[in-house]
Parts: sequence; C-alpha cells; structure tokens
Amino acid sequence: MTDRYASFVRTGAGRALVKRLGLPDPPRLRRHTPGDPLVPGPVLLGSATGGRLAEPVRAILAAAGVEPADPAAAPDPERRHAALVYDATGITDSTGLGQLHEFFHPQARSIMPSGRVIVLGTPPEECGSPREATAQRAIEGLTRSIGKEFGRGVTAQLVHVTPNGDAGTTTGLESTLRFLLSGRSAYVSGQVIRVGAGAAEPPADWNRPLDGQVVLVTGAARGIGAALAKVLARDGAQVVALDVPAAGDELAAVANEIGGSAVQLDLTAPDAPTRLAEHLAGRHGRVDVVVHNAGITRDKTLGRMDADRWNSVVDVNLSSQERINDVLLERKLVPAGGRIVSVSSIAGIAGNRGQTNYATSKAGVIGLVQSLAPVLRERGISINAVAPGFIETRMTARIPLVVREAGRRMNSMTQGGLPVDVAETIGWLAWPASGAISGNIVRVCGQSLLGA
Ligand SMILES: NC(=O)c1ccc[n+]([C@@H]2O[C@H](COP(=O)([O-])OP(=O)(O)OC[C@H]3O[C@@H](n4cnc5c(N)ncnc54)[C@H](O)[C@@H]3O)[C@@H](O)[C@H]2O)c1
Repeated sequence: MTDRYASFVRTGAGRALVKRLGLPDPPRLRRHTPGDPLVPGPVLLGSATGGRLAEPVRAILAAAGVEPADPAAAPDPERRHAALVYDATGITDSTGLGQLHEFFHPQARSIMPSGRVIVLGTPPEECGSPREATAQRAIEGLTRSIGKEFGRGVTAQLVHVTPNGDAGTTTGLESTLRFLLSGRSAYVSGQVIRVGAGAAEPPADWNRPLDGQVVLVTGAARGIGAALAKVLARDGAQVVALDVPAAGDELAAVANEIGGSAVQLDLTAPDAPTRLAEHLAGRHGRVDVVVHNAGITRDKTLGRMDADRWNSVVDVNLSSQERINDVLLERKLVPAGGRIVSVSSIAGIAGNRGQTNYATSKAGVIGLVQSLAPVLRERGISINAVAPGFIETRMTARIPLVVREAGRRMNSMTQGGLPVDVAETIGWLAWPASGAISGNIVRVCGQSLLGA
C-alpha cells in the first residue's frame, strides 16, 4: 500500500501546493539501516539537580561512540542536535519542574528533523512522596506535547526507570536508549516506557542483537509478519515463520528469503498448540521468542454482526494466543530469558466503530500481557505488547478511502507507519538485552490522536 499524497508532496509541484494551502506535509522519517551510526549528529544530555541516571546514560552513549554535547556551552543558533536527552529523576516537587523549561526552551529549535527527545523519570507509583509522584507524573504532559509540537518527524518519549535493580544501570537501560535514539523507533512517539528490574544480556554486537535466538513469528506470510520475519533474521535470529496452509506459497517465499523455516498451521485448529510445541521441541529444543502477530478483522457494527464474525476474531486474535502460551510454557519450551511479544492495536485502546469484535480481542491482548507479566517474571520471561496505529498493509488498504485518509493523517507524523516500524519495535522488545522491560504496551502509531 502506498501513500500517494506523501509521494506527491515530495515533488516540486507538491511542495509548492502544500505550502500555499497549508496542507499536511508528511516528513521523510529516518529509518534504520544496519551499520548506521546510532544518531546522525550530537546528543545534548541534561540533568535536573540530583538526577540518578545522567552517568549511566553518559556511559551508554560513550559505548555507542556518541559524545554528548555540553549543555553549558554558549547557545549557538547554528548548532543542531540529533537528540535531547534529559534526566528528570532529580525532580521531586512541582517547584522543580521549571528545570524542564530551562533545558528544553533554548533547544526547541536546535533539534534536527527526525530528532529524538527522551526524558528519563521515576515511575510515580515508586516515588518516595506524593509531591515527588505529582511532579514525575507532570512530566508526561511535557513529552506528549513535545511530540505534537516539534513536528518534522521528531519523536518524544518518557522513560520511567524503576529505582531498584538493574534498571538504573547501563545494562537495564541500554537497549531502550539505543532503540529510541536509532531510526528503529521512527514511528513510535508520545509513549511512556517502563524499564523495571529483570536480567538483561547485552549482545556481543549491537548490529545483531538477536544472534542465535530461535524466534517464532505467527502470521508471517505477509504484511507486518513478513516484515517482522525479515527484521528479526537481519538482526541474527533463526526464524520459524508460521501461517495458514492457504498462504503456503507466500510463507515459503518469506522463509526462503531469510533462511528460516516455514510451518503451515491454522492457529485455531484444536491440535495447533501441541503440533507447534512438538515442531519447536523436535527442531530446536526451545523457542526463545514468541511473537503473536497473526490477526484478522471481520468488521460490522454490533447490530449487524453475526456470532461467527465475533467468535472467529476473538479466537484468532486472543484465545489462540492463550492456548499457545499455555502449552509452550507448560512444556517449558520458553527458557529463562525468553520473550513473548503480542500484537494488539490502538483499536484495543480507543475502541473503533464497526470493530467491537476486533477491539475486544485487542483489548484482551493488553489484559493478557498485563496479567501474565508478574507471573512470568518469576521464570525470567518477559512479555510485552505493541499496539500499532495505521500501518500501510493489505488490512488497512481495505478501509474506505475517506476513513483511510483520516486514519493516515491524524497523528504527529501525518502519515501511516510501515510494517517495518512495527517489526523494529517488536525486535527491540525481543532482544536478550531488553530483560528489564515487561508488562509494557508500546504504541507504534506516530502518536495517533485516537485513544491518546
Ligand atoms: N495493519 C494495521 O494497520 C494494523 C494495525 C493494528 C494492528 N494490526 C495487527 O497486526 C497484525 C498483523 O496485521 P497485518 O496488517 O500484517 O495483517 P495481514 O492480514 O496482512 O496479515 C495477517 C497474517 O495472519 C495470518 N493468519 C490469520 N489467521 C491465521 C490463523 N488462524 N493461523 C495462522 N495464521 C493466520 C494471515 O494468513 C496473514 O498472513 C494483526 O494482529 C493485526 O491485527 C495491524
């Protein structure tokens, strides 16, 4: 699916028309290519008085070959930053919020297109006092607004770092900082990401963060699943690509392209979980990462929706994930350090007209992740979900034109995301280095206005 409007506005005539009529001007987003430097320019690192994370962040940047710019240097209107990173953990009272203005106000125009704004804070529920929790909660308003205000493909996130465990060390934080600074997070903005406790294993090579991992991707024949299989293989994973037998040819093409294996299986078949478990046990003896991506839509308003549409959507999108998790976990095929990533949707957060079945299934996926996270933590397994917004696939190509155009533009990037944007986000959650992230729901929606 192509965005013809975005292609047009990038032509000379298109640019002129967009300027004259004040139409949306979708920026070209910086996306990741292997071997890219983490950021294409200097990073300005600031800290509120008493912050606890500036040093770990400095060490992470240094390890990535990034020299932070000096925040005390005289303001230079010519200087451009690829990222602004601010440690706000020292803010313990609303009277300290002025430090955010002090840091960001002079830099608002210094950030490059597709730049990154990252603010590090403490989860309000883990703060030492109501005053501190209030001030920390307030910061979310800043980051979400920056995401809407800066434009030109700039993203803004708040990363809540738990004060205990590994999270405040370079090991716990590194994967998240690397993901957010890089072009991998092109379509992720306005998010609050929680980095908690949990063992994180840094890779030998950050260009291959999934080296040696056995990864199952469901719904891998096309769309987001095919992009996922390719991104995960590029990052070093051995991919087991699964889809229905009817999609066998497309599935084989994906598996061949990436040197992975193909499993033709309908996830709703009663024996699907055991057949899958036997396949994984026989071929690999384990599965390090399970990505539940397969999904369907059967749209109708509730009054017109028959039971079949309702049941099939809930079964594919939610119940099959539960059945497969149960069998793989029961048979101990997901080892300590394992990862489960489920694909939800912003429809599961905001609801959507004509999609009561789909939104129910996708909200259920969020429930599944949040309820299993504490249980799986005991076994050293993390579970997270991504909630894509408007992504350019066959699924969204079926949406009627006017609704499609609205969905595509009503976000801070004024464009739809690409399957690769969802794939890169899932990849980050799957890395062995991301063990400190569990129970998160990360939207890949360009900061869509829906459900925000
Ligand atoms: N495209 C979007 O904008 C968007 C937005 C939010 C969420 N999502 C979610 O992302 C995921 C992928 O979406 P997509 O746009 O790539 O969809 P798609 O329709 O292009 O691909 C889905 C794949 O899942 C497979 N599948 C369906 N039922 C299956 C079953 N019973 N067993 C095995 N495989 C099955 C299909 O054959 C297909 O290859 C879905 O869960 C979808 O709900 C997509």
